[in-house]
Amino acid sequence: MLRLPGLIDTHVHLREPGATHKEDWDSGTAAALAGGFSLVLAMPNTNPPVCDSEALSSVLQIAAQKARCDYAQYLGAGAENAASISSLAGRAAGLKMYLDQTYGPLCLDDMTLWKEHFSSWPRNAPIAIHAEGRTLAAAILLAELVNRPIHLCHVSRREEILLIRAAKEKGVPVTCEVTPHHLFLSEADIPSIGAGRAEVRPVLASAADQQALWDNLDVIDCFASDHAPHTLAEKDSVTPPPGFPGLETALPLYLTAVKEGRLSIEDIILRCVMNPRRIFHLAPQPDTWVEVDPDARWEIHAADFHSRCAWTPFEGMSVQGQVKSVFLRGAEAYRDGQVIAAPGSGRNIRSHKN
Ligand code: NCD
Ligand code: ZN
Ligand code: ZN
Ligand code: ZN
Repeated sequence: MLRLPGLIDTHVHLREPGATHKEDWDSGTAAALAGGFSLVLAMPNTNPPVCDSEALSSVLQIAAQKARCDYAQYLGAGAENAASISSLAGRAAGLKMYLDQTYGPLCLDDMTLWKEHFSSWPRNAPIAIHAEGRTLAAAILLAELVNRPIHLCHVSRREEILLIRAAKEKGVPVTCEVTPHHLFLSEADIPSIGAGRAEVRPVLASAADQQALWDNLDVIDCFASDHAPHTLAEKDSVTPPPGFPGLETALPLYLTAVKEGRLSIEDIILRCVMNPRRIFHLAPQPDTWVEVDPDARWEIHAADFHSRCAWTPFEGMSVQGQVKSVFLRGAEAYRDGQVIAAPGSGRNIRSHKN
């Protein structure tokens, strides 16, 4: 048995409020524990989106009743809220900025708005950004101009990771995350997954892009699942929304890569615990750990998962390495397929009451 610190997922969509048929704070945090994650940072592209103090309080109230693992909630950057939300930074996981079109209503086209948010959000509070290709280049330029740290979400292309390498070498304060699906899938997998189900932002990239992520592992600060559940009926419809569930497959995929000699356990701990703590200013969770059987071989079947969305692009894949148990602040929270932690036992790590 191998013991790891509780993993942190800095990028999950829990869908509540607004789309609890896809996921809610209960099912999503149960999926987190089953995947070995003891702390998740929840994205703000809910319905309504989390863009002001009222919406933040309302979602935190839901989370307090339903979350089974620890958490914090992002605020979303909008066209009107740059000045008003900066005072909420201490209550939020960070500010999320959508600079390219994706699922949900939050997208900022006008670069003057980017600058407003970059300047008014406290410099020591995290900003996480969805920006692809040349948008990512523009975001890095602006971060350099106002000299503030930014975190780039789900980097997927060779040109992006090479640009981030160059920016880091120049001392620009950028960090980045990569998803398991961009590490372990490419556009070559689209036919077998099915075109609608394979819809995701950023799209599954070329084999060369995928290889570039592995070749530049030293530039990747975090692994983050971008757990983005949609139901099979939605994925198989004529307008499939983009997004994959990821919480329950991420660690097994990384552990399989360890068996194959492509990653080390230290690589995982650095990118799923140490760097997320540093970038997002997260205190270590006391007495919190995950027990993993690194030799257990099993097949991925969404039917066994806790996520409400009930499918996975990794269906049928054989993996080696399984989460056996999770302890959260001293209490057993998960063992052998069963979530033990009750709804409401998770804590808001940005609440000053802790
Ligand atoms: C995400 C979602 O469904 O909320 N979808 C996705 O394809 N990644 C939105 C996002 O992270 O861009
Ligand atoms: Zn995104
Ligand atoms: Zn996302
Ligand atoms: Zn199956």
